[in-house]
Amino acid sequence: MADMVIVDRDGVEHTVAGKTGVSVMETLREVDYGVAAICGGMCSCATCHIYVDAAWLAKLPAPQGDEKELLQELTGRRAESRLSCQVQFTPDLAGLKVAIAPDD
Ligand code: FES
Repeated sequence: MADMVIVDRDGVEHTVAGKTGVSVMETLREVDYGVAAICGGMCSCATCHIYVDAAWLAKLPAPQGDEKELLQELTGRRAESRLSCQVQFTPDLAGLKVAIAPDD
């Protein structure tokens, strides 16, 4: 397990044990202040939208394909936007900080 820092929609930071080897979404959907992830990680709903802290953004591969297209449709999109179901949480990302994006 590696910690992950989650900033909820009220701006409150929570440090939780992240699930490694699966997507960031798998951790975020288990907390009350997390994401809905309605499509279950199929990259079709965008309800797992997060903002990755700037310090961590360069450590992640850039969005591709369906994720890139879905992100472009979001009104709340920022340069640091990602769909958390498309970001794998690995041990080297321990301490990763992400904020839950507003509902679009
Ligand atoms: S869970 Fe639906 S797009 Fe990520």
